[in-house]
Amino acid sequence: MNAPLRHAAANRAATDGYMSGFANEFATEALPGALPAAQNSPQRCAYGLYAEQLSGTAFTAPRSHNRRTWFYRIRPGAVHQPFTPLVAHAQIGGATRLVADFNDVPPTPPNQLRWDPLPMPTAPTDFIDGWVTMAGNGSAASMSGCAIHLYAANRAMTDRFFFNTDGELLIVPQEGRLSIRTEMGKLDVEPFEIAVIPRGVRFTVDLPDGTARGYLCENFGALLRLPDLGVIGSNGLANPRDFLTPYAAYEDLEGQFELVTKLNGQLWRADIGHSPLDVVAWHGNYAPYKYDLRHFNTIGSISFDHPDPSIFLVLHAPTDTPGVDSIDFVIFPPRWLAAENTFRPPWYHRNVASEFMGLVHGAYDAKAEGFVPGGSSLHNCMSGHGPDAETFEKASNADTTKPHKVGDTMAFMFETRTLIRPTRFALETAQLQAHYYECWQGLEKHFTPEQQ
Ligand SMILES: [Fe+2]
Repeated sequence: MNAPLRHAAANRAATDGYMSGFANEFATEALPGALPAAQNSPQRCAYGLYAEQLSGTAFTAPRSHNRRTWFYRIRPGAVHQPFTPLVAHAQIGGATRLVADFNDVPPTPPNQLRWDPLPMPTAPTDFIDGWVTMAGNGSAASMSGCAIHLYAANRAMTDRFFFNTDGELLIVPQEGRLSIRTEMGKLDVEPFEIAVIPRGVRFTVDLPDGTARGYLCENFGALLRLPDLGVIGSNGLANPRDFLTPYAAYEDLEGQFELVTKLNGQLWRADIGHSPLDVVAWHGNYAPYKYDLRHFNTIGSISFDHPDPSIFLVLHAPTDTPGVDSIDFVIFPPRWLAAENTFRPPWYHRNVASEFMGLVHGAYDAKAEGFVPGGSSLHNCMSGHGPDAETFEKASNADTTKPHKVGDTMAFMFETRTLIRPTRFALETAQLQAHYYECWQGLEKHFTPEQQ
């Protein structure tokens, strides 16, 4: 499906400033005629622009998964001074702030782990300075696995632009809006929405509310995509039309700017004499997007028992093994519980997959307390978990002849096929809850062999 060519400003009323659809072949220009007709690389581009291609997949990837975009920009992306290591904020509490190789972290404990929210910074901290790596698997260098970070920031990125060489960024805001100006246009994102910034795309982040906090899943491997729906049919879960991509918008600014990138976990900086957000027009299917989690069409049981949590899958990053994903991004949104004669919260389980959870808003229906918005939990491969004692008692005695609305919540999970390995920071931080295991210690023995 092709989006029509329109001037950026002319579109705001009709589509709220975004183009609709997941990974469409978009085409957008901020000046009329900036996009070449019927070819990508004319001998001379309109307005004296340069043509540049940004590839997100191998050139020879199957057409259905092939992703690339053509830019028509004021200067090519190559125009900047050499990069040098950026050492500021490299440490946090004595531990390395950013981790990109999870073969080189402390031994992973088999315990259930849970953390309080990351405190807001007291020193001036922008979106890039405010990252800290909690856990992950694989490595950026091998382009396999993921890193899970938290961010907390209290100032806009000023005269500073970033691109991530290590992977695609899935941003889950928990508190505070983000105004993300990218090479391809601007994304305004608020809690309950997510944004995905592809590997390599240059951007800067402003904080309309002054502070912001949230979660990041950095995908080293195959790009996030919408899951197949199987017997669900042709509609449901996250519908493609609800994914929004910005129209082209450019700035023509000269001055002293900084270009930062993360490569193999190391931040690098370069001086750049102009804003790299100078793309006047672009077309392609490799572009940033946002999605409002409140648009998720949640599907569940209307008879008894509830399905596996894969029914809540928003996006996934597949591996070469069919049905086994490197990352599943799953949400637990507001929904009706209607299954009869059923224990309605998540059942007790131990999975081969590993689960990192976060809470954007409200309360999670398996935990009565201790898991608060901005907090995190990690239940690794074969780690036993499920409802706490209070939730078990309540749900075991609840009336299941009537539907119940779980209304005030938005929890999510980054689920992975391989072990999620916490970093030294995550294992040593004061936010780690030492007594998390106690939430199951009140589960009493109810076994009575003489009584069915
Ligand atoms: Fe779980």
